[in-house]
Amino acid sequence: MNTPDHGVRSDGPVVALVPAAGRGVRLGESIPKAFVTVGGTPMVRLAVEGLIASGVVDRIIVMVPTELVDSAVALLPPSGSVQVVVGGAERIDSVRAGVAAAPDAAYFLVHDAARALTPPELIARVVAELRTGHRAVIPGLPVTDTIKAVDPTGTVTGTPDRAQLRAIQTPQGFAAELLRSAYAAEGVQATDDAGLVERFGVQVRTIPGDPMAFKITTRLDLVLANAVLDGAGIQAVAP
Ligand code: C5P
Repeated sequence: MNTPDHGVRSDGPVVALVPAAGRGVRLGESIPKAFVTVGGTPMVRLAVEGLIASGVVDRIIVMVPTELVDSAVALLPPSGSVQVVVGGAERIDSVRAGVAAAPDAAYFLVHDAARALTPPELIARVVAELRTGHRAVIPGLPVTDTIKAVDPTGTVTGTPDRAQLRAIQTPQGFAAELLRSAYAAEGVQATDDAGLVERFGVQVRTIPGDPMAFKITTRLDLVLANAVLDGAGIQAVAP
């Protein structure tokens, strides 16, 4: 084999974990964000459909607020490979619950329900890269804004070189034992899963992301997502 081998099994179930337990207050809706519809379909269902359409995922575990387990089961595709579990107070707690529900996984994908329009092709690329032996694979796009570091008063403390920055998306892919170790540590905090495994000194590989994998966080994102599904602007956002 001509591909790098970093000690990962090249076979075994790929389990996708879909954190969908956020309250999503920035979206300004009265229901949790993952259940808000885009083009008439709840985001969490769109995200799950994308994972299924990729053809590279064996099982999907969706983490939702405790009171919405039954609704989630009802609205997700009726498939034996889709399971719903209760999430947690923070995203990290929700992902931990998903990890615990898949002791047999060889690989994990962690994929935000809020990235509802992620192309299946991007999901397949992440898994293909894992199967070549990379233990942590994340999609990212070059940033278009200049990013400043600021102190608590808002005073600029630095301007990182934009060429070296990437805006990171999901799905983030991991060799399963690596993600399990990351989540087994006490008191872990990070805004993404790769941030946890970076602490182990593991090389995290970035691959080109996709503009359509944007996270639907604000009202403006929701307007954009609906416009994309309506057909308006698909040409404009194609990479
Ligand atoms: O809030 P944010 O946009 O970062 O959330 C990213 C994803 O994590 C969303 O899909 C959200 O539903 C999920 N999440 C979760 N459990 C939480 C908070 C967020 O599953 N407690």
